[in-house]
Amino acid sequence: MVSARNAATAPWPMPAARPAAPAAKPAARPGTITVQVIEVIPAAANAVTLRLAEPGTTRAPAPYHPGQFITLGFSMGGETLYRSYSLCGDGKTDKPWEITIKRQPGGRISNYLNDTAKPGMLLSVSAPQGNFTLPADPASAPGGLVFVAGGSGITPIYGMLRALASLPASRRPHVTLHYAYRSHAEAIYARQLVALNPQRTWLTQYHYASSAGQRIHPEHIAMSAGPHAARAHWYVCGPEGLRRAIVAEAERAGVPAQFTHVEAFASPSLRTAVGKGTAARIRLADTGRTLDARPGESLLETLERYGYRPEFSCRAGACGTCALRKLSGKTRGDEGGPLTGRERSSGYVLACVAQPAGDVTLASAGGKGAHAPIAARERHASARTALRVALVAATATVFINVWGMTSHNVSASGSSSSSNSSSSSSSSGSFGSSSSSSSSGNGGFYSSPSFNQPSTGTGMS
Ligand code: FES
Repeated sequence: MVSARNAATAPWPMPAARPAAPAAKPAARPGTITVQVIEVIPAAANAVTLRLAEPGTTRAPAPYHPGQFITLGFSMGGETLYRSYSLCGDGKTDKPWEITIKRQPGGRISNYLNDTAKPGMLLSVSAPQGNFTLPADPASAPGGLVFVAGGSGITPIYGMLRALASLPASRRPHVTLHYAYRSHAEAIYARQLVALNPQRTWLTQYHYASSAGQRIHPEHIAMSAGPHAARAHWYVCGPEGLRRAIVAEAERAGVPAQFTHVEAFASPSLRTAVGKGTAARIRLADTGRTLDARPGESLLETLERYGYRPEFSCRAGACGTCALRKLSGKTRGDEGGPLTGRERSSGYVLACVAQPAGDVTLASAGGKGAHAPIAARERHASARTALRVALVAATATVFINVWGMTSHNVSASGSSSSSNSSSSSSSSGSFGSSSSSSSSGNGGFYSSPSFNQPSTGTGMS
């Protein structure tokens, strides 16, 4: 279950003395923000960190909570592409935002930013969104905090760990981190994680390199959290298989659903390049119109290609804003995510990541007045249209400027899906290539009986 706390309205951390009286109220409103790249830092062998500030300053462009994400829009090859990235800073507004972008095989935006991002570049982004954030008072969690990250799923978690590191010891719970990655060279923030608490007084880390045959073993997560694991807040971000395994383990351990926090970005490994021809037909019941879906296209992409403007926000399967009601047929690619079981059983699918698996019928193409599930609507009620309009506008304004400032080689660098989703919480499918990988979509990050000892920095420096 996605965190129930509304991170967009509650400040973090809550003041110690008067927890009911927030010291500062974030003013972030959904919409578009122009930000400037002020620094580009290598984050791993295949990833860079961009520091983003209000143009002309080194300040954060807007308040945010550690663990939230932003969505970037790009005009490329005649289409507008969107990518969501987690903010990995500690939430302080006197410092710039940070996002880390891991290269995805064939990824147009991830490779473009890794190759060409440089100080001075302007980007247009959404306001910070998302509820994958810390409890208002972390010290109140009786069982502490348990984090599980796969690949670039570490990015929102790193932001939360940084925020925890900045708290006085008396306000910090005990924290356990399980972090799986392909190889030490590709481990994002390896050194920074070690530096967070080298004495391991409040943070115990377990690292797993799949190239060395190490995997997260879900049964051991609860064991590592100690006797109060059932009363801990559990956070998981990574490939879908890993998320499912950890959520199931949390349920087995007796963790209340409201203490289980899942970042549900779609995995790029599950997306395929958009091809030519017709893969399926999408019928709109309200008008009777039939649309041809191309291979690899999400429902949202097909609708937009036909000129419809369904509402969306993250375009990464995380927020639920794009939910549309399916009346018949099958879709794939939006398993997990923020929709409740009831919404799913009512036919709702996440149009931004769901692809038709055969012909489908939708109640409508969405947009104003569409009958989306109430819960999904409430999640980002004010974000949906604003972001679409703002980012489409950015296509004609800010990104034209960016385009003029930077190399255009990217348009020839990849042919992947135009909505190859966020790298902020997903990992390359290549993680799963190990023979010990046991579950589609798990990234090869878990299920081995191996269970590392708390890391002392081995392989991380
Ligand atoms: S737009 Fe957020 S889940 Fe689809």
